[in-house]
Amino acid sequence: MIEVEHLTRRFRRGAETVTALDDVSLTLGPGELTVAAGPSGSGKTTLLSIIAGFERADAGRVRFAEPLPPDAPPESLTWRHLAFVPQGLALLDELTVAENVELPALLDPDAGPGRRTAELLDGLEIGHLADRYPSLTSGGEQQRTAIARALRLLPPVLLGDEPTGHQDRDRILLVVALLRAHAYAGNVVLISSHDEAVIDLADRVITLADGRVVSDDRPGARPAASAR
Ligand SMILES: Nc1ncnc2c1ncn2[C@@H]1O[C@H](COP(=O)(O)OP(=O)(O)O)[C@@H](O)[C@H]1O
Ligand SMILES: [Mg+2]
Repeated sequence: MIEVEHLTRRFRRGAETVTALDDVSLTLGPGELTVAAGPSGSGKTTLLSIIAGFERADAGRVRFAEPLPPDAPPESLTWRHLAFVPQGLALLDELTVAENVELPALLDPDAGPGRRTAELLDGLEIGHLADRYPSLTSGGEQQRTAIARALRLLPPVLLGDEPTGHQDRDRILLVVALLRAHAYAGNVVLISSHDEAVIDLADRVITLADGRVVSDDRPGARPAASAR
């Protein structure tokens, strides 16, 4: 459903050039929770940002296939196609928690019913905060608000940059369970994380180092004979 082809991205840092992504190719399909792992600086955020259309590549391209508009440029996709939980969350502080979650639906009235905001908020244990402004909630609650917003229109592609980074252990499990359920409903879900608890629950783990894919595994799919 998404083909990442030979993506390369370089940044200039003073006199140096940093290669954030170095010829990365991947196919991402629906039905599994994929985690991009790897240490800080390995290229996870750059990869997600290019797929989401927030960042350009110096070389290579991202191709979308059905049910997304085939070959759509990433920047032409809306929340109903592709939702992103950025590390900075990007909530609007003039809107309440519930209004932030409603925003994708308000901006795209033809998108279809999607999921009910109240149900999403309850599922993420922030139902009691619906009418509060995000700045008056915790970092973890703000992050769960951004996750609810991303799920609002049931997008065929959901990307999250360390979407459990502000959660405690129980809420990590809650968030991962919701993201997995979205994947298992037939959608592409790709998140970055360096948290072992998240990586353990992934169906597929793509590990980056210095902008390259160094491993791409489906841990649960390993035959029992090779289990340690
Ligand atoms: N806007 C930028 N300007 C300069 N260097 C950047 C920029 N964004 C990322 N980089 C560099 O690219 C590399 C990959 O960064 P990033 O994709 O953020 O990695 P990760 O998310 O895995 O920590 C790092 O060396 C980082 O410093
Ligand atoms: Mg990052």
